[in-house]
Amino acid sequence: MNDSRNFRWRVGGLGELLWDVFPTHRCLGGAPANFASHAAALGADAFLITAVGNDELGRLATAELSKLTIDTTHVSINTHPTGYVQVQLADGEPEYDIASDVAWDFCDWNSVLEPFAQTIDAVCFGTLFQRSRASRETTKRFLSATPKSCLRVFDVNLRQDFYSDDLIVDSLKLANVLKINRAELPIVLRAAGMSVHDENSIDSLLEKFDLKLIALTLGAEGSLLVTQDERNTCDAPKVEAVDTVGAGDSFTACIVAGMLRGMELSTINTLANEIAAQVCRRSGAGPAVSDQFLDSFKS
Ligand SMILES: Nc1ncnc2c1ncn2[C@@H]1O[C@H](COP(=O)(O)OP(=O)(O)OP(=O)(O)O)[C@@H](O)[C@H]1O
Ligand SMILES: [Mg+2]
Repeated sequence: MNDSRNFRWRVGGLGELLWDVFPTHRCLGGAPANFASHAAALGADAFLITAVGNDELGRLATAELSKLTIDTTHVSINTHPTGYVQVQLADGEPEYDIASDVAWDFCDWNSVLEPFAQTIDAVCFGTLFQRSRASRETTKRFLSATPKSCLRVFDVNLRQDFYSDDLIVDSLKLANVLKINRAELPIVLRAAGMSVHDENSIDSLLEKFDLKLIALTLGAEGSLLVTQDERNTCDAPKVEAVDTVGAGDSFTACIVAGMLRGMELSTINTLANEIAAQVCRRSGAGPAVSDQFLDSFKS
């Protein structure tokens, strides 16, 4: 067994890396990068597997990742422009316009990824990155190369129309943990061939895809965590939400940190809602973890 006091978990974000361009400012984003930065803040050795362009935004992105203590060894560089997204906030809710044919759409598989994938304890991936043939293939090969014990977390993050039933089902088959929000749930259930939705749907999904855990997040109403033999609901702390960008990613990172440390399901749920509430309290998606909060992860 790993000794959680001395051992640093190796956690990867696999997917898009892009600049979120807001009306007033620009910040580095993409769910996998946000996830990795929160995982790093919670004490993991965090990696990002993605691609940037050979351009100024690519160099700035890599420098920013390093500042967030995310290892960039597996951020490849190609001839396409670094990714970006125009973000408009409507009542604090983000709306995204995602540029096409950018560097992360061409994240080709390479031979060093295989031995690297064999060393990691958890990896988070989603649907957007897999909109291109190359990055979908890389996702499949990477996840297939991870150890059996690795947490393969599918954080659905449906964006615009960059998904299909086939992609959702393939991703569920590659995963052993699912993070899903309320809007995504009916779409994923339908893709999985479950046309009738009731309170047992989550259990059916868990069973059908042999998942260790499903995390259903409910925005300001908190979350439901379901495993093979337990379920736990948790309210979200009441907060004045400045914007909710990245709340889900911080939630996912906390779930992973808690599972790797073997925490109780109810403790994981409480901590994940706390960290996500902290992200909602301020602008941007990056980590906002206090020392007091980090103490919860020390054993
Ligand atoms: N208005 C809010 N007040 C308090 N907590 C919130 C609020 N919105 C989100 N959260 C917290 O963030 C968690 C994730 O939120 P949500 O269900 O919106 O996920 P998501 O849609 O995956 O987020 P993202 O936009 O980052 O993908 C919630 O379970 C909750 O803990
Ligand atoms: Mg989400």
